[in-house]
Amino acid sequence: MSIFELDITPEALEEAVRALPPSMARLREDLSRLRRDIAEGRPQGVERQHALGKLTARERLDVLLDEGSFVELEMLRRHRAQGLGMDRQRPHTDGVVAGSGTVEGRRVFVYAQDFTVFGGSLGEAHALKIQKVMELALSTGSPFIGLNDSGGARIQEGVMSLNGYGGIFQRFVQASGVIPQISVVLGPCAGGAAYSTALADFTFMAGDTSQLYLTGPDVVEAVTGERVTHAELGGAQVHGGKSGLATFVHDDEESCLLAVRDLLSMLPSNNLGRPPALPPQGATADLRPRLAEIVPAEPHKLYDMRLVMAEIVDDGDYLEVHHGWARNVICALARIDGEVVGVVANQPMVLAGVLDASAAQKAARFVRFCDAFSIPLVTLVDVPGFLPGKDQEHAGVIRHGAKLLYAYCEATVPRISVVIRKAYGGAYIVMDSRSIGTDLALAWPTNEIAVMGAEGAVNVIHRRRLAAAADPAAERAELLEQYRQELIHPTYTAERGLVDDVIDPAETRAALARGLAMLRDKRKHPAPRKHGNVPL
Ligand code: HXC
Repeated sequence: MSIFELDITPEALEEAVRALPPSMARLREDLSRLRRDIAEGRPQGVERQHALGKLTARERLDVLLDEGSFVELEMLRRHRAQGLGMDRQRPHTDGVVAGSGTVEGRRVFVYAQDFTVFGGSLGEAHALKIQKVMELALSTGSPFIGLNDSGGARIQEGVMSLNGYGGIFQRFVQASGVIPQISVVLGPCAGGAAYSTALADFTFMAGDTSQLYLTGPDVVEAVTGERVTHAELGGAQVHGGKSGLATFVHDDEESCLLAVRDLLSMLPSNNLGRPPALPPQGATADLRPRLAEIVPAEPHKLYDMRLVMAEIVDDGDYLEVHHGWARNVICALARIDGEVVGVVANQPMVLAGVLDASAAQKAARFVRFCDAFSIPLVTLVDVPGFLPGKDQEHAGVIRHGAKLLYAYCEATVPRISVVIRKAYGGAYIVMDSRSIGTDLALAWPTNEIAVMGAEGAVNVIHRRRLAAAADPAAERAELLEQYRQELIHPTYTAERGLVDDVIDPAETRAALARGLAMLRDKRKHPAPRKHGNVPL
């Protein structure tokens, strides 16, 4: 009997065939189509994303991770929310692509929010996916990276969205100091998502397309009547230069994601490992006479500390954090003789290198990061003091200065300080002095370590004598000379054991390399306690 003789319509036949147990071939084909459709996303959504100058979540992962290394988890996950029309839209992934991949062959865990699905907003399923990769990152000791592009808590899912954020924050804190955590802002990052950046160790922002705020311009206008643009409220320039929330600002998404790869190349995967070292470069015998030309001997003449750093570190190469914020202090990751170090340096070019509330916060957080991840600290000191005045006092310079003090005092990694020129008062103590635990204190012959500089000191202690002098200018010159001769001559501090050696500036790179080798296996175990009460 042929098919034409059967009493059955073609539709019914097709239905009957579909009802048969599926063949392996068809299952594979269906699965492959489903996965492809999910990966391609909604064409209108992808077009809109591109039109805004943004990459899609998967394109971003392609730039960030080694080619072909991404292993996706829970691609098929969908939300279970009801109401407000949610049961009619249940897209796979739930708006976040999550999983693991490698960067230069080293494993990382990552999520990338997909703005084309519910505006990347975070509901219950979305949050659980992020929490899963956070837990895997922690349990496998791998860096965790979040690529944020989101309208914040998913309004339709109400308290479950807020609960999802809380679970993410809790995991950020548990992983803090155990694995490096990096947040990248590549679109709006509103509401709860903003705290994921503040809790991370490093936050990247990209050009004009990333914004970071608790509430968007509409809410600001409704509540305060103030009209602001997205960029004015929380653009990359705001957080890179004013709030200090963005550690790195890049022109576009691609350079931002490539910079994350660069950063990872300097970091250990977790707090039990060491940062990846490169082969030594013979730095222990590398003399740099140019250093003596870069730095003027006169204590108040300006120079660019970045030139000094470039002479000291391998290949003149360093990665500056918070380049645009609190520029009076420089914090950078670099290598000396192949070994990763964290450099903290006063910058005489900006505010004469004084410490203020912002600089203290910036340096404190950097010191704590380095200490948590076994990165030795090199501190280059040329500091006239803390910035005095009402503004700073009211801004809490004492409270913020205490953060830096606390950070150095509790740091157990190898610590080397070099006093290049002046180091006065509290700022001397704070910038990794012997008294707060530096392991190796070096100084150039230009060092002036004292309660204050000669001018200020003579004014205070000789006020009456100067007022009574027949020739106050001559008297002042004599007293200044006496102060310099007796209290701040080049070996004054070394004679008292507070500086281990006074070195020729040309020897700085070599002395640091030798010092790092000397301190390499340093171990220090503070007394057990629940935790200290770091000034916040
Ligand atoms: C659900 C959201 C959403 C959200 C955006 N969408 N935000 N859906 N919950 N929070 C949806 C939109 O409805 C839209 O869906 C799509 O995503 C794209 O959004 P648009 O507004 O069209 O995009 P755009 O003009 O680029 O503006 C992006 C935006 C804006 C600036 C992010 O959407 C916005 O202001 N969203 C609300 C931000 C916010 O206030 N979030 C809540 C924060 S409170 P369709 O279907 O039209 O494509 C919070 C609490 C946690 O997070 C606090 C923890 C500490």
